[in-house]
Amino acid sequence: MSPQEPTGVAELIARSNRLGSDRRNTNYAGGNTSAKGTATDPATGEPVELLWVKGSGGDLGTLTPAGLAVLRLDRLRALTGVYPGVEREDEMVAAFDYCLHGLGGVVGPGLAERGVVGSEAAERGGAGPGPAERGAAPSIDTAMHGLVDAAHVDHLHPDSGIAFATAVDGEALTAECFGGRVGWVPWRRPGFQLGLDIAELHRASPGMIGVILAGHGITAWGATSEECEANSLQIITGAQRYLDEHGARQSFGNEVPGYGPLPAAARRARAVELAPLLRGLASTDRPQVGHYTDDAAVLDFLARSKHPALAALGTSCPDHFLRTKVAPLVLDLPAAAPLADVAGRLRELHAAYREGYRGYYERYATPESPPMRGADPAIVLVPGVGMFGFGADKQTARVAGEFYLNAINVMRGAEAVSTYAPIPESEKFRIEYWELEEAKLRRRPKPKALAARVALVTGAGSGIGRATARRLAAEGACVVLADRDAAAVKEAAAEIGPADVAVDVAADVTDEASIAAAFGVAALAFGGVDLVVNNAGLSVSKPLAETSAADWDLQHSVLARGSFLVSREAARVMLAQGMGGDIVYICSKNAVFAGPGNVAYGAAKADQAHQVRLLAAELGEFGIRVNGINPDAVVRGSGIFSGGWGAQRAAVYGVPESQLGAFYAQRTLLKREVLPEHVAAAVFVLTAGELSLTTGLHIPVDAGVAAAFLR
Ligand SMILES: NC(=O)c1ccc[n+]([C@@H]2O[C@H](COP(=O)([O-])OP(=O)(O)OC[C@H]3O[C@@H](n4cnc5c(N)ncnc54)[C@H](O)[C@@H]3O)[C@@H](O)[C@H]2O)c1
Repeated sequence: MSPQEPTGVAELIARSNRLGSDRRNTNYAGGNTSAKGTATDPATGEPVELLWVKGSGGDLGTLTPAGLAVLRLDRLRALTGVYPGVEREDEMVAAFDYCLHGLGGVVGPGLAERGVVGSEAAERGGAGPGPAERGAAPSIDTAMHGLVDAAHVDHLHPDSGIAFATAVDGEALTAECFGGRVGWVPWRRPGFQLGLDIAELHRASPGMIGVILAGHGITAWGATSEECEANSLQIITGAQRYLDEHGARQSFGNEVPGYGPLPAAARRARAVELAPLLRGLASTDRPQVGHYTDDAAVLDFLARSKHPALAALGTSCPDHFLRTKVAPLVLDLPAAAPLADVAGRLRELHAAYREGYRGYYERYATPESPPMRGADPAIVLVPGVGMFGFGADKQTARVAGEFYLNAINVMRGAEAVSTYAPIPESEKFRIEYWELEEAKLRRRPKPKALAARVALVTGAGSGIGRATARRLAAEGACVVLADRDAAAVKEAAAEIGPADVAVDVAADVTDEASIAAAFGVAALAFGGVDLVVNNAGLSVSKPLAETSAADWDLQHSVLARGSFLVSREAARVMLAQGMGGDIVYICSKNAVFAGPGNVAYGAAKADQAHQVRLLAAELGEFGIRVNGINPDAVVRGSGIFSGGWGAQRAAVYGVPESQLGAFYAQRTLLKREVLPEHVAAAVFVLTAGELSLTTGLHIPVDAGVAAAFLR
C-alpha cells in the first residue's frame, strides 16, 4: 500500500455515497467502506498510517465523515499477534478501541459540520478530531478493512452477489463467471478470522479484485478509490449479467392457479381488511408498527409454486435476517379465499409460527444466550395481496420489508442458475443471539412515550388538530392527519416529517366512505390505528331565532354525527387489532356551559360529550379508553376564530381582534391565554400511559372558567 494524504477521506465519502445510493449495490444501512492513508499525528508531529472506515450504524448513501471510525494501522495490524483464535474472536471488537486514533471520524474542530475534509485538514496539521465531536464506533467488519493490504476496500451486500453467495455451487459459479479475478470465501461469521481469510486471499492472488463471501455478500479492493469502486461494480454487474444470461426464466416455478395478484383495487381493499388483524398478531409480544407493500416482485414470488419451500428456508445475509427474522409467516390460501377463512388460518399460522420460533430458540440457545426476544413474525406474506412488515417503528417495519425484497431477489438469482442454499439455521441463531448484537440492542435509546402507537387526528389541517398531530408525532407516534382541507393537511403533515412519521389524507367526517378511506390509509401506512382524536369542527353561533335548520344540521353533521362515524370506524379497527386504544374528543367548554347565541354549536358539543361517556361504557372491556377535552377561547391558530367569528367577538367586547386572546385570558382564573399547544398537551397526557386507568373523563383546558367546572 502506498501511503496517501487524507484526501483519500473525501474520495471515500464520495465513493460510499455513490455506491450506497443505488440499492442494487447494497441494502439500506448494509456494508461498509474504508480508505487507508497517512496523516500527521498531533501527539508526535510525525506521520501516522491510519484507516478510515465506516463505523456502526448509518447508511453508505448518506455517510459523512462523522460516520467514520479512525484507527491506527500499526496497532490494528499488531492485533494479529494477540488474536486468541476463532473461539474467542469476539474479544477483538473490544480491542479495536485500543487502536482508535483520537475520537473518531472528524478531521478537525467543526470541519465535519462544514463538510470540509481531506487536504484542508492536512494544512491544519493532521487528522485530529474536534474536542466535542466523536466519530462512529468501529464495527465488527473493521478487521477485514484493516487487514486487507489495499488502500481502499468495499464490503457490500448486492442482491446479485448474494445470489452467487447463496447458490449451492456458488464457488464453481464464481469461478465460471469471473475466472480467478474474484475469489470465494466459505461461510464464516463476520469477525477477525474472516478478515484474516480475506487478507490471505488478497495476498496470495495479486490479480484478484475481490471475493464473494459465502452466504453473505462481497468484498472488493483497489489501490485507488476509483479502482476499488470499479472493482466493486465489476463484481456486482458481472454477477447480475451472468444471472440474466444463464438464468432459467421461471426460477420460482410455474404460476399456481388462484395465487396470482388480485386486481389493484381488490388487493388494496383486502390489505386494508387484513392489516389490523395482522398488526394485532404481530404485536403479541410487544406493540409493532406495520408496513404494507404490493411490489410486483413480491406478488410474483407468491404466485409461483416454489415460494412456500423457499420462504421456509429463510433469508441468508446477516443484515437481512436480523431484520426479517429467520423466516416469514406465509399464508397458504389462495388470493380470493373468504376473509373469515383467511383470518382463521392466519391465527393458526401465527400460533404455529410462535411455537416454531420458540423451538428454534430452544434448539440452539446455550446458558450464555440472551433471553428469547419475541416470537412474532417480522414479515407476513399473503398471496395475491402482498407483504406486511412489522417493527418497533415505521422505519424498522419498512426496512424489514425492503430487506425481504432483497432476499426475494437473492433467491430468484440463486434459483435461476442453481439451488438457493442459505447459511444453516444454527449459524443464523448464533448471529441473532450474538452477544455483540445484544450489546447493540442494549445501547438503543429508550423509546418515546408514544412509540409504536398510530394516531389519526381529524381536522388536523389547522389550529388544535394540527398542534395535536405535531405533539403526538414528537412523542413518537406515527400520525395520520385527516382534514376536509386537502392542501392544509398536506402542508401540516410535511411540516411534521417524512412519510415514516406523518401522512395526510383528505377526508370529510360527514361522509362514511371518506372516513373509511382515511382509516384505510392508516391501515396501509402503519398497520392500523390506536389513538383517534375527534377534533374536526366549525362554529355556527347565532341566536335561536336566526339559527336555520341548515345551520343546526351542519353543526350536528360535523360534530355529533361526524365524531360518531369516526369513533365507529376507529372501534372497528381497534377491535380487529385487539390492542386496546384511545379515542379522544375535543369537545368544548360549551358542552357544559350554557350561554346565549350558541344553540347549534353548544348542543352538538353536548352530544359529543355524552358520546364520550357512552363509548367509554361500551368499549372499556376491550381496553379502549374514551375521554374528552373541553377547551375554551383558543384564538391563536384557530380557523374558527380567524374566519370571522373572532372579529365579531372582538367588536362585541370592544377590543382589537389581535388582542382577543389576551382579553379572554383576563376573564380566566389563571389569567393565561389558552393556545392550541395546551390542548395538544392534554391529549398527550390522556394517552401517554400515566392515566391508563382513566376513561369517560373530560379535562378542561380553559385557564380556569368557574362556570364550566365539572361536577
Ligand atoms: N378554538 C377554540 O376556542 C375552541 C374551543 C373549544 C373547542 N374547540 C373545538 O376544537 C376543534 C378544533 O377547533 P380549531 O379552533 O382548531 O378550529 P380550526 O378551524 O382551526 O380547525 C378545524 C379543522 O377542522 C376541519 N374540518 C371542518 N369540517 C370538517 C369536516 N367535515 N371533515 C373534516 N375536517 C373538517 C377544518 O378544515 C379545519 O382544518 C373543534 O372541534 C372546535 O369546536 C375549539
